[in-house]
Amino acid sequence: MIISFIGGGAMCEAIVQGILSAKSANCADILIAEPNEERRVKLKKQYGIKTTPNNTDAIHNNADIIVLSIKPQVLAAVTHELKDLLKPQQLLLSIVAGAKLDTIIKSTNHDSVIRVMPNTPAQIGAGVSVWTATPAVDGEKKEMTAELLNPLGIEIYVEDESMIDMSTALSGSGPAYLFAFVESLIEAGISLGMSKELSNELVIHTVLGSSKMLNQTGMDPSELRNLVTSPGGTTSAALSKLNEEGFSQSLIMAVKSAYKRSIELGKL
Ligand SMILES: NC(=O)c1ccc[n+]([C@@H]2O[C@H](COP(=O)([O-])OP(=O)(O)OC[C@H]3O[C@@H](n4cnc5c(N)ncnc54)[C@H](OP(=O)(O)O)[C@@H]3O)[C@@H](O)[C@H]2O)c1
Repeated sequence: MIISFIGGGAMCEAIVQGILSAKSANCADILIAEPNEERRVKLKKQYGIKTTPNNTDAIHNNADIIVLSIKPQVLAAVTHELKDLLKPQQLLLSIVAGAKLDTIIKSTNHDSVIRVMPNTPAQIGAGVSVWTATPAVDGEKKEMTAELLNPLGIEIYVEDESMIDMSTALSGSGPAYLFAFVESLIEAGISLGMSKELSNELVIHTVLGSSKMLNQTGMDPSELRNLVTSPGGTTSAALSKLNEEGFSQSLIMAVKSAYKRSIELGKL
């Protein structure tokens, strides 16, 4: 598989790491178009891949897949550069938050497009990638996409594109919510009088163990929560306080804000 990236930032790097560790492509078959010279030098040195400052090289590289891994704010300028240049057999894969398939098709004049919402645990092969495709993408190209995304963690194909904006708010931004939760829990340990190191260790392992339990037991989170919550006990006191402070409602509102922003970014 020959693969090019436009935008050599954090998410591009996560995908490159996944591809190389799964050997889905050789480093000689990966090209990254990135304007920042320092970044190009780093990517080349670290992964032995090819880099270029010119976005159109990403297409002229005989790439099977061209990944758009740029910020939504530069999407219009980049797709304008690519307009009419893609060959019919080339697959354009966008991870750009909010960017609709229709916008990408119209701005590039290319109809074989995949839209993916990955998340950062992809860097360690534990990500979630939700994706959809235009009708022009055939079964073989869908298989190629699944092969590309598989090493990054789980990949889930959805027919309905609106699920991608929803996934952006849930699993795309999700790691940040969890990190914020972890930060607050560590803060809570410190406020009780613990050292930062001890609080850190306790919280990280609690999150790891609880996530594994969720995954391995297949039990509903509410069931698992009930198992640690005895009436009148310490957990019950904490959960009542969380409830009183609107924890669940705040989280739902936060995800809705992310969803709204994803829709807004699609209109840029
Ligand atoms: N990070 C996440 O968790 C995550 C998850 C899911 C989806 N996404 C989506 O993935 C996309 C990339 O995110 P990211 O976190 O990788 O962003 P990032 O780290 O900012 O990477 C974007 C890269 O694109 C480069 N760039 C800027 N203008 C360009 C141009 N005209 N042509 C080519 N490259 C250009 C930037 O270079 P400069 O730094 O020099 O500007 C930067 O290296 C975004 O649309 C984001 O919404 C991100």
